[in-house]
Amino acid sequence: MAAEAQRFPAEFRWGAATAAYQIEGAWDADGKGASVWDTLAHRHGGFAGGSTGDVACDHYHRLDEDLDLMGRLGLTSYRFSVSWPRVQPDGRAAWNQAGLDFYQRLVDGLLFRGIEPVLTLYHWDHPQAVEDRGGWLNRAMAGWFADYAEGMGRRFGDRVAQWITVNEPLSVMLASALGSSRPDGPLGEDSLVVAHHLLLAHGLAVRGLRGAGVRGQIGIALNLAGVEPAGDRPADLTATARAEAHEERLFLDPLLTGRYPLFDGRPVVECSAADRDLITTPIDFLGVNWYAPARIAAGPTGLFGYARADFPGAEQNMLGWPVLPDRFGVLLRWLAANYPRLPPVHITENGLPLPDAVEHGAVRDPLRIDYLSRCLAQIREAMDAGMDIRGYHVWSLLDNLEWNFGYEPRFGLIHVDYDTLARTPKDSYYWYRDFIAAQRRQPKEPAWHG
Ligand code: FCB
Repeated sequence: MAAEAQRFPAEFRWGAATAAYQIEGAWDADGKGASVWDTLAHRHGGFAGGSTGDVACDHYHRLDEDLDLMGRLGLTSYRFSVSWPRVQPDGRAAWNQAGLDFYQRLVDGLLFRGIEPVLTLYHWDHPQAVEDRGGWLNRAMAGWFADYAEGMGRRFGDRVAQWITVNEPLSVMLASALGSSRPDGPLGEDSLVVAHHLLLAHGLAVRGLRGAGVRGQIGIALNLAGVEPAGDRPADLTATARAEAHEERLFLDPLLTGRYPLFDGRPVVECSAADRDLITTPIDFLGVNWYAPARIAAGPTGLFGYARADFPGAEQNMLGWPVLPDRFGVLLRWLAANYPRLPPVHITENGLPLPDAVEHGAVRDPLRIDYLSRCLAQIREAMDAGMDIRGYHVWSLLDNLEWNFGYEPRFGLIHVDYDTLARTPKDSYYWYRDFIAAQRRQPKEPAWHG
């Protein structure tokens, strides 16, 4: 069924998402400290194509224009992240008022337009100053992060609808393992320590936010795929179980059951009772970022003893991910079936990278429209089957810096010309605008409706 024809509940939230380092630019403006991503960009001559986040979409200086674009899109929710070093340049103690003012203007601008602010505290760009003290390898970082969370809670707690502590701890862990996000190189299996500290940071931050009296809901955003074996050889099945432990359960299990998953018969991380208490601090919702499923095969083995295989016949997007939107439901059903204590779910990211270009003033991106509508159909089906899903955020509002991959993969509903910084809404922007408007126009079911 076409997603247009589908009905979502009136209170369902329609959003788009971004992250600070990927869009803001102004990397050293107004007292901002350097983040670990600034260091990486400057140390290695930039990411793909020599790119950096120094200017990115210059969102920092174009806030009003971007807010107007969100307003015209009809969003009811906007997910953004706060650059920790913009508001706390050293990651501890001193706050930077100019940085806080920027986010005040953003939050006020959203509320003025009837858009609920969804604030991510950590979307990977922690202050270089805390990296210099060991970063996520240092258990103390969880405490510094909680202080930052609590400080943000005190300042924004009356106006933010939803708080997300950490975005994709798995990505942070894997990037640490492989060295792509650490100035000091790869961590290998030590990255499991990073995973544990991220979970402690999350739990402490939830408590910090509650202590600050925030009125909004609190959650975390996990990237999940839905793993399936490439074949039915026992080795493929074992590899898939390993991948499931490492990529799906590593954060879900401790958060929702208080236990780390088993990996070759042993818990992947040892955890004290006190740490378990912290990690299981109740959350109000689970954020799910979904792009593609994963197919797993035995060897040649990667770091954790399994390999990814191609889906036969599936197209790949420009990041090499299979374009299989109809598999979203597999992941959602797995989640509902495996976690009886699953809190309400918000889809916090979902999108497709394309090499979009402006032609005659327009950007034609029918593949994105197709991908997004199919994903929405999967969400609707999962809801029909009883799953409690309450909101959806397209990744991304704007084309932006795709981390190490540079600016070529474009995920935005809005095209950004990186020479002029001009914004051009794509066809998908108008499609999403009409979709949201149609949802909001839907009449209430008459009482006599059979
Ligand atoms: C997710 C990240 C987000 C963006 C998308 C494409 O893993 O959270 O910042 O890069 O992928």
